[in-house]
Amino acid sequence: MKRIGVLTSGGDSPGMNAAVRAVVRKAIFHEMEVFGIYHGYQGLINGNIKKLELGSVGDIIHRGGTMLHTARCPEFKTEEGQLKAIEQLNKLGIEGIVIIGGDGSYRGAKALTERGFPCIGVPGTIDNDIPGTDFTIGFDTALNTVIDAIDKIRDTATSHERTYVVEVMGRDAGDIALWAGLAGGAETILCPEYEYDIEDLIGKLNRGHDRGKKHSIIIVAEGVGSAVDISRKIEAKAGFETRVTVLGHVQRGGSPSANDRVLASRLGARAVELLLEGKGGRAVGIEQNQLVDYDIIEALAKPHTIDKKMYDLSAELSI
Ligand code: F6P
Repeated sequence: MKRIGVLTSGGDSPGMNAAVRAVVRKAIFHEMEVFGIYHGYQGLINGNIKKLELGSVGDIIHRGGTMLHTARCPEFKTEEGQLKAIEQLNKLGIEGIVIIGGDGSYRGAKALTERGFPCIGVPGTIDNDIPGTDFTIGFDTALNTVIDAIDKIRDTATSHERTYVVEVMGRDAGDIALWAGLAGGAETILCPEYEYDIEDLIGKLNRGHDRGKKHSIIIVAEGVGSAVDISRKIEAKAGFETRVTVLGHVQRGGSPSANDRVLASRLGARAVELLLEGKGGRAVGIEQNQLVDYDIIEALAKPHTIDKKMYDLSAELSI
């Protein structure tokens, strides 16, 4: 392949820029031409596409967000949208594209693959919920943002002897909640993957209280339900003074961690290598610190699972 495109799609994540930089520089190193597709699949449909040079991706490795911008694009779910997108690519002679994003972006890549257009999926989402990789680009940075917040909340929770319910992102996946809860020493972690029982939660808070523990931190992934509702139940049933913090989109911003920059650079470059080898329909990832790639359709068919052992450990360490 001599001419490729790159786009970012769905919710942005810190490190996407580093991945775009890696795609562009690696491709130019191998004497390919690279086109930036702006505003995700919507930009692809609309032909919002510009050639990128080495300098186009200078000074972005440390920046959060994505210089290519991003969007969620319902039109791309339609046959018409997909055909328009392929037409735009053919018009410019683009032979393959690298798609950096989360599960929705991967579904788009799958659709293009099924229509015979070569795509490589690069996992970029703070949710860490893409099959075929241990880590997604942005997860580490988001986790550190959450930990920074939890540590600060712990200070005031201790001073005021309050129970805090902290809501983190993760509509369908509890990875942020689990990892942040374990790293932040939370008393309880609620993930969408597991049912919770409010009576059990309150029983645990009461046991801690009886041992002299006057403050608690509960981490709840947004997919479990509203942190406000959970805090109201705790106040009503146990009588503890509670406060709620919803961290929201703060988790999606900020300068990427060193780990995310390295991961993004490795995955972005690997995606270009696959296109150079003439391969499409692959999803790149990292497993046990080794780069891997899988058939994107098969990868998407696998359910995302949370690390049960880690979940059990977090419960053991917070008795
Ligand atoms: O997929 C990443 C994510 O940050 C989810 O954790 C969250 O539920 C969602 O995006 C929020 O999306 P939006 O920014 O479109 O509201």
